[in-house]
Amino acid sequence: MPGFLDREAQLALIEDIRGVVGQAPLFQPVMPRTGKPLSVRMTNCGPLGWVADRAGYRYQPQHPVTGTRWPAIPERLTALWDEVGAYSQPPEACLVNFYEETAKMGLHQDRDEEDLGAPVVSVSLGDDCLFRVGQTTRGGRTVSIRLRSGDIVVLGGEGRLVYHGVDRIYPATSTLLKNGGRINLTLRRVRPAAFE
Ligand code: SIN
Ligand code: FE2
Repeated sequence: MPGFLDREAQLALIEDIRGVVGQAPLFQPVMPRTGKPLSVRMTNCGPLGWVADRAGYRYQPQHPVTGTRWPAIPERLTALWDEVGAYSQPPEACLVNFYEETAKMGLHQDRDEEDLGAPVVSVSLGDDCLFRVGQTTRGGRTVSIRLRSGDIVVLGGEGRLVYHGVDRIYPATSTLLKNGGRINLTLRRVRPAAFE
C-alpha cells in the first residue's frame, strides 16, 4: 500500500520507536551456528520479540542483552494492525529493524510464527529500499519494488509465506530520520489464539 502513512503519521511513529529503543536498545543479531552478524540491528516491542543468535531464530519475552521484558507495542501500531491486518487476535511482536546505508537482508520466509493464518504487517520509514518478493518456494521468479517512507506491505493469505528480502538501501532519499537510514517495523501474531 504505497504512501499509506502521511508525514505526520510517520513522524509520530518515529517518536514511538524512539521510546521503544530507549527501553530496549538495538542489538546486533547473528546467524545461527556461524555467528556471522546480520547487517541490520534490531529490537522489539510486544509480549514477544524475534531474536537471532548462535542458538537459532526464535521469539522470546526478554531482550537478549538486557534480559528485561520488551516494552509494550505503541497504541498507534496496534491501531494500524486492526486497520490493515484485519485479524481477530492482537499482534504479539513488533520487530524493529534498523538499516544503515550498506545494510540488506537476504531472501527468506517469515515462518517462525506458529499462527501462519495471521498476516505480517510491514511499515517502511526513512530512506527508500529495493524490496524483492519471490514465490512461496525458494528459487522462483522474483519482482523488485522500491519501498518508500510511509509504505505498508501486508504479507497475508496466499502471500503469507512468500520469500522476500531487501537488496539495498538508497541513502539520503528521505529526510524523516535526522541521520538517515531506514527503519522497518513488522507486526506479527506468533501464537494461535487460546481455545475458549
Ligand atoms: C523483514 O523481512 O523482516 C524486513 C523486511 C523489510 O525490511 O522491509
Ligand atoms: Fe521477513
